[in-house]
Amino acid sequence: MDQHTPIDTQTKLVGLLGRPLGHSFSPAMHNRAFNALGLNYCYLPIEVADQDLETVTACLAKMNFAGYNVTIPHKIRIMDCLDTIDPLAKAIGAVNTVTIVNGHTTGFNTDGLGFVQSLEVASGLTVKDKDILLLGCGGAARAIAMTLAQQGASRITICNRTEQKAHTLSLDVNRQGRDCCKAIPMMAGPMETVLGDTDILVNTTSVGMHPQEEQSPIEAHLLHGNLVVCDIVYNPPRTQLLKIAQQKECRIVEGLGMLVYQGAAAFKLWTEREAPVEIMFGAIRPE
Ligand code: ATR
Repeated sequence: MDQHTPIDTQTKLVGLLGRPLGHSFSPAMHNRAFNALGLNYCYLPIEVADQDLETVTACLAKMNFAGYNVTIPHKIRIMDCLDTIDPLAKAIGAVNTVTIVNGHTTGFNTDGLGFVQSLEVASGLTVKDKDILLLGCGGAARAIAMTLAQQGASRITICNRTEQKAHTLSLDVNRQGRDCCKAIPMMAGPMETVLGDTDILVNTTSVGMHPQEEQSPIEAHLLHGNLVVCDIVYNPPRTQLLKIAQQKECRIVEGLGMLVYQGAAAFKLWTEREAPVEIMFGAIRPE
């Protein structure tokens, strides 16, 4: 058990707003990081019902909170409760991190940045000028696609089981981010054609997540050794997709990295210090 810096009148609070919060890694990850750097901060889980979100956020802004994270189901509606929204979070249409400075609240989205940072550290590649194929179209895909567009990816192709959603997201990225995105159906032919020129493949679907650990969102024969293959599923850390990618000698990027680096970006916004990412990994890695 870590020794916590004594809580006193100087302690700055941060936390996680959502409901339910049962499974969250964030309190352990952040509190371990604060302790490691000797920072007088404390991270609290705060369960908030839909109808109380406005009241709670107004109260936190008047207390000794430096900010907070936001998770399901409040990531979209929180935007109506804040003073300022960062342009990337506005384009994504969701906020996962809030800062409070002299009572002024600003919303950010560090999910896509967390993914990009994790990818760049694990693979040694930068996303600028890369061709990227994104599988899936949920909230995480949206954050990742907008961030990749902002960071200069040369082409983003979105491929989703429900094709219409891929077209909608692709249009949004082209309008609000940069004109670099297109959609294709989730079928072997079009996927194979696109993969020929793809540098980075990213799975944002839930396929392969516990308990369906044997499933992969893409068939092995479509992969080639020049791909960097990323999965944002982190339970299990080494998904079926990553296992087949390894057999094809692709570089692989596990989903735990995105979790840590989105937290590291929030940590920096609250503390203005670089986050100790190895300590954060240590707090959440399965035994
Ligand atoms: P999140 O917000 O975490 O990104 P989500 O909104 O639940 O997650 O999105 C899940 C994604 O996984 C969707 O793109 C979904 O495809 P649909 O839009 O067609 O529903 C995709 N997904 C889930 N199960 C899938 C499956 N068995 N095969 C292919 N895609 C699947």
